[in-house]
Amino acid sequence: MKRVVVMFLVMAVLTTTVFAGGGQQTSGGGSGQPTIGVAIYKFDDTFMSYTRNAIEQNAQGKAVVTTVDSQNAQPTQNDQVDQFITKKMNAIAINPVDRTAAGAIIDKAKAGNVPVVFFNREPFADDMKKWDKVYYVGAKAEESGTMQGEIVAEYWKANPAADKNGDGVIQYIMLKGEPGHQDAELRTEFSIKAVTAAGLKVQLLAEDTAMWDRPRAVEKMDAFWARFGDRIEVVFCNNDDMALGVIESLRKAGFFSGGKFLPVVGVDATAPALQALAEGTLLGTVLNDAQNQGKATFDISYALATGTSPAAAGWTLTDGKYIWVPYQKVTKDNYKNFQ
Ligand code: GAL
Ligand code: CA
Repeated sequence: MKRVVVMFLVMAVLTTTVFAGGGQQTSGGGSGQPTIGVAIYKFDDTFMSYTRNAIEQNAQGKAVVTTVDSQNAQPTQNDQVDQFITKKMNAIAINPVDRTAAGAIIDKAKAGNVPVVFFNREPFADDMKKWDKVYYVGAKAEESGTMQGEIVAEYWKANPAADKNGDGVIQYIMLKGEPGHQDAELRTEFSIKAVTAAGLKVQLLAEDTAMWDRPRAVEKMDAFWARFGDRIEVVFCNNDDMALGVIESLRKAGFFSGGKFLPVVGVDATAPALQALAEGTLLGTVLNDAQNQGKATFDISYALATGTSPAAAGWTLTDGKYIWVPYQKVTKDNYKNFQ
């Protein structure tokens, strides 16, 4: 009888504890299920909310997943990781605030013998080598950049009027995500490489970061429009939230009505971006597959938490510890397949 009461108390604590410095949600449940701690760099990020939901859905009936919001602060996340380890979670899945902090997280996880799966923000290769119970789930950022560039090149070749000043050169704006994030750096680089590889000439008018964020993108684009106006021929954005912000800004300048169009591309294929494709405002995006990234993150974490082989979890492991989920091009021709 006493043991039952103690077990009940332990379960109650596990499912209701609120971690300091962040919101927390526990899903799943049931005795005998493994525990997995998940930290998201910030809940208020459109794409990460899709990934988080996918992790939690896949955990239903299999594991007790505790998800915390690191509120874009690495010290907060470090405390959350400490708590996961103190609570002897069977595995942790971490979306780092700052990917250079992964090394310290690995050291702690190793000391506590809690396997760790990083996702979406890739730790440096040297850190990944620190321990064999460290994995990464993500997507090849180069691939998404290349696909954006191909979408733009195809549009440019099919629409001679897109060259507004007729100089045979694409005058463009680049709106970046968080500097240092592999997706921001590589999408910026490879989108332009794909355009030039298609035989087109480019001229950068301006590049700035809007930190993946829609309201900040509106502000930046307002300023770019004030400075360059009709000299702007294409706007590349490292994600859809920023592309939607750019479109919002351009609307104020009279675009997307009466046949006035400017090509804007993003990445993620969020629901509002698919809607923008349907409306003909967004030229194109690239599916950043949250469903499969979330599923892979859960499956590998679950394998590690239950002491089974991650290699047998149904995903191809590259170099023994990386899972790469492919991107897909999304335009007005195929967006319905992604809704
Ligand atoms: C990227 C995604 C962005 C943002 C970022 C967060 O993969 O395209 O929209 O969510 O991850 O790390
Ligand atoms: Ca031009």
